Amino acid sequence: MRTVHRHTLTVRVTHWLIAGSGIVLLFSGFGQMPMYKRYNIIKIPGLGWSSDYEITLLIHYISAALFCAAILFHMVYHFRRKEFGIVPKKGDVAGSIQGLKAMLGMGKEPEHEKFQAKQRIIYAIIGSTSLILLATGLIKSYKNLGPIILDPMFLQWTAFIHTGTGMFFMLLFIAHVAALLLKGHRPLIPSMFSGKIDADYARTHHSKWQP
Ligand code: HEM
Ligand code: HEM
Repeated sequence: MRTVHRHTLTVRVTHWLIAGSGIVLLFSGFGQMPMYKRYNIIKIPGLGWSSDYEITLLIHYISAALFCAAILFHMVYHFRRKEFGIVPKKGDVAGSIQGLKAMLGMGKEPEHEKFQAKQRIIYAIIGSTSLILLATGLIKSYKNLGPIILDPMFLQWTAFIHTGTGMFFMLLFIAHVAALLLKGHRPLIPSMFSGKIDADYARTHHSKWQP
């Protein structure tokens, strides 16, 4: 099979740092709400610690540091290299609708560059959700530093937005993996492991992309 190079090692390492720390953040974040004991997760061998608040908080802090560092790196790296291929453009909402219709057999699939219009929209949604989690998480961490008094109403809103956005992040994660498992997208999966994808797939589904 002839392949083309899609993602550099730097991009793949950054993706997996964000994905890995994001999954650990999800697990440790929800662990702070007393649900693992209630739903018997603590009875799974090896997960007895999962309802210990001190431990889940420490894991949440360590993974948050990785998550923040990888996101900051991603933004500075691509900004300095002037790589904006995944940032949404005018007409992407209409392009996404056309793309979704084509997946259901209605109409022709639009011609795509390296990223499809719907991928650019998804990128913006996952990216802004991550930034909201990062900002509200930093405020919650600041409050935990010591005897710091913040307006209780402000803190309550921050906690509410952090938890709500955390739940939305979980839905996005599930949708992201589910979308990649669809037959039409499955050939993209190797791109985040080996960096390469099938050349024929690239030609038919990303015809305006010159690797
Ligand atoms: C919390 C976890 C994750 C986050 C936040 C995340 C985030 C992202 C983002 C923002 C993109 C670029 C937009 C897009 O192409 O849709 C992307 C691409 C990608 N992700 Fe993830 N991801 C996560 C987990 C995973 C997992 C578990 C897999 C394994 C199947 C995966 C495989 C991929 C692949 C193959 C691409 C490249 C698609 C392409 O080349 O066009 N991701 N991810
Ligand atoms: C994928 C990203 C994240 C998810 C899904 C997530 C999820 C959660 C959830 C569900 C909670 C428990 C609700 C609560 O106690 O209010 C929580 C608490 C917390 N999160 Fe996150 N979070 C994420 C990222 C972050 C980041 C980046 C930071 C720090 C920069 C952070 C800092 C905190 C802090 C300090 C707490 C509260 C600890 C306490 O005082 O009880 N989180 N998170």
